[in-house]
Amino acid sequence: MKLLVKNIGTIVGIDASGRARVSGADMDRLETLDDAWLAAEEGRIVAFGRMADLPADAAADETVDAEGGMLFPSFCDSHTHLVYAGSREQEFLDKIHGLSYEEIARRGGGILNSADRLHATSEEELYRQAMERVREIARMGTGAVEIKSGYGLTTEDELKMLRVICRIRETVPLEVRATFLGAHAVGRAYAGRQAAYVDLVCDEMLPAVAREGLADFVDVFCDRGFFTVDETVRILRAGAKYGLRAKIHANELDVSGGVQAGVAEGALSVDHLERMGAAEIAALQGSETMPTLLPGAAFFLGMSYPPARDMIAAGLGVALASDYNPGSSPSGNMRMVASLASIRMRMTPAEALNAATLNSACAMGLSCDFGSITVGKVANFFLTAPMPSVEFLLYAYTTPLIRRVFLRGREFTA
Ligand code: NIG
Ligand code: FE
Repeated sequence: MKLLVKNIGTIVGIDASGRARVSGADMDRLETLDDAWLAAEEGRIVAFGRMADLPADAAADETVDAEGGMLFPSFCDSHTHLVYAGSREQEFLDKIHGLSYEEIARRGGGILNSADRLHATSEEELYRQAMERVREIARMGTGAVEIKSGYGLTTEDELKMLRVICRIRETVPLEVRATFLGAHAVGRAYAGRQAAYVDLVCDEMLPAVAREGLADFVDVFCDRGFFTVDETVRILRAGAKYGLRAKIHANELDVSGGVQAGVAEGALSVDHLERMGAAEIAALQGSETMPTLLPGAAFFLGMSYPPARDMIAAGLGVALASDYNPGSSPSGNMRMVASLASIRMRMTPAEALNAATLNSACAMGLSCDFGSITVGKVANFFLTAPMPSVEFLLYAYTTPLIRRVFLRGREFTA
């Protein structure tokens, strides 16, 4: 199947170099091409160029007229919890009435509330609910997504979640990566016995997950009131024995030591980072660990935002992700996430778009195939209405500008 897109006002996010990530001052550069066409074949980008140079005999099975709109690489969302049962708007009300995220968790709300609901929900129903969210994010421009377990908190329910993620992977054209997050919170049956729960994660859950080949990555919520650095390191090492690369929730609630632990354990990414000091930034310099910022969670919880400017000034690359989950970020809208990064963290639109595409792909180990408009990469992109500038996409942050979505070289219409 050959696809030809003509009359593109501007192709945005071209990268001819094939680099895995973009860092420091380079984050503010976004390569573009005006008055362009793009061709895809067998799901991959095969060529693009200027309309003036479009070969007269260019043929395709499907020709799309972009009508002067812009073409962007699909967003990559490297951190979500989008498989969950029901919703938690009661906690939304609790927050409005002044309770903190930790207070809600202490009262049995939060993650344990989602675990109870997930336990009472069939695998089929869980899949159905999650698929609605997957279709929603695809329509909003996301083409690759990481999804975590972590609302099971028993071996059986963690496996149920991961099986749902695998089924999603098999049924959608988005690229999906699965992360085992058994250490998201201590399961109810282990209340007051955190050490025994960590044993369960390492000695029972991880081997079972590995036996079924259900996860690519292992994650731990390393933060005040959740898991310690020592517990985190133990779980990551247990995961590494099964070939699972580490990703960490770190420094959301406190300066947890999770960033340094993640770097030392060769984590693919450390995520959240609302509380970062000079030592955390220094630890990331020269490492391959991608700092991943989740401004949607800071926005929803009314927390301070990660110091993106300091991180970029220190030469780091940063990624953006949605954290789509029922408790701290009930939205998977990556365009909104990028807008928040510009509005609240003073990232330029170019930096935010690089962070939400190539760097977020890198945080899933996917930048060889996703995250930029590059010949040979998977043809995941979206077309916008005609816009006065690239910046307009993040500036006019609620205008429905995304008109058509293409995944693996085919239009996504579901
Ligand atoms: O990434 N921080 C930990 N976990 C999620 C929130 C999960 C929840 O509240 O359900 C997060 O923000
Ligand atoms: Fe999260």
